[in-house]
Amino acid sequence: MRPILLIIILLAACLPASAQSAHERAARMGLGMNFSYLENWWLGKKEKGYSDLTSAGAAKKKEAEFAKIARAGFKTVRIPINFGAWASLEKPYRWTSPEGLDIAGRFVKAALDAGLIAIVDLHHVEMDRSVKAADSTDRVAWIWKEIASRYKDLDPERVLFEIRNEPHDIEAGAWRKQAEAVIKTIREVAPKHTMVVGFHDWNSRQAMIDSKPFDDGNIIYTFHYYDPFIFTHQGATWAGPGLPDLKQVPFPANGNAIRVPDKARGTWIAERIGNYREDSDAVKMFDDLKAAKTWSEKHKVPIFLGEFGSFGKYAKLADRCRHAEAVYSALGRLNIPSAWWEWDAGFSMYDEGTTKIAPCMQKAIDLFTIADQ
Ligand code: GLC
Repeated sequence: MRPILLIIILLAACLPASAQSAHERAARMGLGMNFSYLENWWLGKKEKGYSDLTSAGAAKKKEAEFAKIARAGFKTVRIPINFGAWASLEKPYRWTSPEGLDIAGRFVKAALDAGLIAIVDLHHVEMDRSVKAADSTDRVAWIWKEIASRYKDLDPERVLFEIRNEPHDIEAGAWRKQAEAVIKTIREVAPKHTMVVGFHDWNSRQAMIDSKPFDDGNIIYTFHYYDPFIFTHQGATWAGPGLPDLKQVPFPANGNAIRVPDKARGTWIAERIGNYREDSDAVKMFDDLKAAKTWSEKHKVPIFLGEFGSFGKYAKLADRCRHAEAVYSALGRLNIPSAWWEWDAGFSMYDEGTTKIAPCMQKAIDLFTIADQ
């Protein structure tokens, strides 16, 4: 063999998994679902560092859901996991509750056995924010070194690593540094796996648009889209002032005034209530998602909408379905893969009192495929 040819072959073999992999893998993700449970730190006890957030019995039942997600037609499952709940807070870091890791491993296996693409998502590593060191770069990188080592032999075509869900209370620059450190750590351990990376400000769309991609070519960029927020989070106790008292927000706006809850007066929630007519316009929502797509085209990187959906506590199913239709049809037209938040808890697509996807939700999901053709 001519030496020059040999050098080319050797060089090609040494190249990190190419940007092509990320594009191809994103193209296969299609319709996705979030399988929430293992991130729910609040199910555990504070004095145990929330390490007891799961129980073996409950986890076993949950495992059966992956096959159902696949049967419902979803191709991808994003599995939020609070790995931090099972690790020490101080250096030298170590696993304090390895049983949680076993359950996480079983979930990933169940997803793969069901034929799904699995996104292993480090979720809520900051927990209740009472311990500052919980989400330090050293700790997050240590967690990922361990997790990537555990999963590195799983098929890189079907297992992706999402480095951190919704970083917040962190400046853009500080997040970038943390992300770079984590990306480097994972890449050393798992050269072929695609990473899913979002930006500061809760993985917001705007934060992504304001940011630049990272140096690693094998990344799918993610953002979350819960607009219009006062519709999707009416009744939510964790998301903003006055939201727990916000009820009967229709989708789209119907001309009736929405009462501003007392606790929301003078806040950003009141502002969003004032803007609801524009915010709930499907054309405006399409344009929002189009701006994300334009960013991906400009930088030649693939994107993935990792979370969208609506809380079912007060929102009416018919309104929730119309909202889902607006988003799914836009995603189909723009060809953006996505994952609905969430399968079988408060944001689920189920018909009231059942564990079956409501027919009007199915109609919304189908718009993705129809619009994509
Ligand atoms: C984020 C949070 C999750 C919440 C969801 C909807 O993913 O991590 O806890 O349920 O958004 O607000």
